[in-house]
Formats: sequence, structure tokens, C-alpha cells
Amino acid sequence: MTLIRAACPDDLNAVVRVHQQAFEGFLMTLLGPRFLRGYYKCVLEYPQPIFLIAEREGQVIGFAAGFVNPPRFYAQLRQRKIPLALAAASHLVWRPHLWRRTLSSLRRAETLSSSEGEPALAELASIGVSTTAQGAGAGTQLVQAFLQQAQQYGAQEVVLTTDAHNNDAVNAFYQRLGFTCMRQFYHTPERLMNEYRIRLEQVESLHQEPTR
Ligand SMILES: CC(C)(COP(=O)(O)OP(=O)(O)OC[C@H]1O[C@@H](n2cnc3c(N)ncnc32)[C@H](O)[C@@H]1OP(=O)(O)O)[C@@H](O)C(=O)NCCC(=O)NCCS
Repeated sequence: MTLIRAACPDDLNAVVRVHQQAFEGFLMTLLGPRFLRGYYKCVLEYPQPIFLIAEREGQVIGFAAGFVNPPRFYAQLRQRKIPLALAAASHLVWRPHLWRRTLSSLRRAETLSSSEGEPALAELASIGVSTTAQGAGAGTQLVQAFLQQAQQYGAQEVVLTTDAHNNDAVNAFYQRLGFTCMRQFYHTPERLMNEYRIRLEQVESLHQEPTR
């Protein structure tokens, strides 16, 4: 039985562990555990965080992290760029090839932080389930609970991005949950992203209990 609950500061280490497993080889993972901890702490300390934990038999097996009004969150993240850069510094020194991807992500965060605020929009920024627990319904429960909480915060729409290529299972996962791909964009010249959105008023099952 999977329990979904709000995250608290004591969960941060477990969230970092699940992230490292679920996102092996991704940029944020390569920037190291201190960076990941700083990033997720920033989500938790945001005034309207949507940060959920999936727990099975007392163990954290997954999480979903996001926020209402993305530009406001990215502005908060920007204010913490020096501690975050310091947290990632040792990993960047040993992996200089990460600089280009890091700068490209920083530029995206800068652009997002200065774009028009959308208080009725929530972003599902990160979702991960530990590799041993995947495929058993936790991810679906996390997304459904995320949509519910976004609606409670007054959001009308939820946005997320995911890789367009070599990522069929994840794209199918979001489509099955009712998300529609609204546009594609290049995050770096090699990395095409799908932007998915879902209108919360269209989601009829939001107030039903998860079945799995
Ligand atoms: C995507 C993810 C959060 C889904 O969580 P989950 O608990 O495995 O999802 P569920 O069990 O609720 O749903 C499984 C469905 O998702 C799809 N899926 C996506 N990735 C999967 C994976 N690694 N293992 C199993 N199913 C996966 C399957 O097609 C499956 O569909 P089905 O039920 O029709 O067979 C999880 O697989 C994960 O952490 N993946 C790695 C990190 C990632 O890619 N996150 C999303 C980035 S935007």
C-alpha cells in the first residue's frame, strides 16, 4: 500500500537518493547530492510548494516536486544561485564538460524567472520513483495528488517538460494521465523537449481516491 503525503525537511536526504536513482546521468544528478539537496530545499521553502512523498512500508519510494506560479519560483531560485553554485562547484571542477549544459539550464531559469507571472499555473518540475518500485502505480498516485493540490492552491493548469526522444514510456505515462503536448523546444541543440499541459477543470477523477 502506497501512502502519499506532504514532504517535510526530514525527507530531503531520501528525496536526493530517489532522484539519484531515477535520474541517473541527468545534469542535476551529476551536479551532486549537495546541489540536489539545495534545489529541493528551495522547492520546500517556496511559499506555495507542491511537494509530495510516496511512502511504502515506512520507506520513501518516490516524490513529486513543483510549485504554483513558476516565474516566482525561478526568481527565488535565482536568489540562491551562489549557494547552489558552491554546492555544485566540486562536481563542475571535475566534469568541465557539464559547464555548457549547466549554463544552458541557468539561462532557461533566468528567462523563466523574468517571464510574465502566471499565478493560475503550476509546474510539476520533478517526479521520480526509485528503480525498484517503478511500474507499480506510485507515479500515477503522485501525479494525481499533485493535480489535486495544485487545484487547492487555485491553479487552473499544470505544466511539465520531458525529453521528446528516447523517452517513450514517460511520454506515454503523461498522456495516459490526460496531459497534452502543447509545444516542443530545444533545451540544448541536441535535446528536444516536449511541454505538456493539463487543464484542471477537465480532470474529473481529481477528487477520487487513488485505486492502486
Ligand atoms: C516516470 C515515473 C515517475 C513513473 O512512475 P511509476 O511509479 O513507474 O509509474 P506507474 O507505475 O504509476 O505507471 C507506470 C506507467 O508509466 C510508464 N513508465 C514510465 N517509465 C517507467 C518505468 N521506468 N518503469 C515502469 N513503467 C514506466 C509505463 O508505461 C507504465 O504504463 P502502464 O501502467 O500502462 O504499463 C517513474 O518511472 C520514474 O521515476 N522514471 C524515471 C524518472 C523520470 O523519467 N521521471 C519523469 C521525468 S519528466
